[in-house]
Amino acid sequence: MSCMENGLVISHKKLGRDLYEIEFIAPRIAPCCQPGQFVHVKTGGTMDPLLRRPLSLYDVDEKLNSITLLYKVVGKGTELLTKIKVKENINVMGPLGKGFSLGDYKSVLLVGGGVGIAPLIYLARVLRERGCKVTVLYGAARSEELVAFDRLRSIGVELMLATMDGSAGYKGLVTELLYDKINPHDIEFIYTCGPEPMMVAVKDYADKYGIKGEVSLEENMACGVGACLGCARKLKPEDDHYVKVCKDGPVFSMADIK
Ligand SMILES: Cc1cc2nc3c(=O)[nH]c(=O)nc-3n(C[C@H](O)[C@H](O)[C@H](O)COP(=O)(O)OP(=O)(O)OC[C@H]3O[C@@H](n4cnc5c(N)ncnc54)[C@H](O)[C@@H]3O)c2cc1C
Ligand code: FES
Repeated sequence: MSCMENGLVISHKKLGRDLYEIEFIAPRIAPCCQPGQFVHVKTGGTMDPLLRRPLSLYDVDEKLNSITLLYKVVGKGTELLTKIKVKENINVMGPLGKGFSLGDYKSVLLVGGGVGIAPLIYLARVLRERGCKVTVLYGAARSEELVAFDRLRSIGVELMLATMDGSAGYKGLVTELLYDKINPHDIEFIYTCGPEPMMVAVKDYADKYGIKGEVSLEENMACGVGACLGCARKLKPEDDHYVKVCKDGPVFSMADIK
């Protein structure tokens, strides 16, 4: 059940160039959240920008009833978000969308690129609490952008890093680690979120070894609740129907996507 709420901001910090983490108390929304869902955020106090901006649940603290988001400043809405101060309110609608499935797996692989790591952190924590072994391949352009590193370490995952400039971990694409470091027979399920070419490479790997998985897709959104068709897309070119990423997703089975 989703609703709208004015969350009380308790922490808001810059983690790296253009990357911020904001935590707010949201007693109505936080108890209903699932990994992979998102909140639709009003970024400023005026009518511009009119539309809310979708941001994934980076983590949820069930005791505090707080939600944490990780966001990258890419335009006007996210720039305005940086102005919100501790003790001020942030207006959010959520939780929205269909999250990740949490099967009874013993060992899973998570592949995240850049800010696409956001929904995988909450997922990794929940899976670890269920006793699942979680291996994470985490890639970014450079080491300063690996801002979720400490959280991943504290969750207790097996972590492998890749950066394009070689400043941390493997030098190159995070997906190259799939073939170098992962034994496909050890993995029951793959979850991925990040740039689409990265997710395509992850799906190719999953298909090659017959491993099932899920991807979290991004699409520009307006209403966020399935009412406007703003986020409609085909999952396969040959499909004769469109899905609404905000309502039918953002998480989809790899098997449904081409
Ligand atoms: C379900 C979902 C979850 C998301 N989770 C996160 C998250 O956890 N952290 C995060 O930093 N971002 C996330 N995003 C992306 C985020 O919503 C956009 O970056 C944000 O809406 C941009 O708003 P803006 O006003 O700053 O930029 P705008 O001025 O609207 O756009 C600036 C540039 O970014 C592009 N852009 C805008 N929205 C998107 C989008 N959804 N996907 C790809 N490109 C876009 C525009 O085409 C333009 O080039 C998510 C998107 C979706 C759909
Ligand atoms: S954003 Fe309106 S239908 Fe998805």
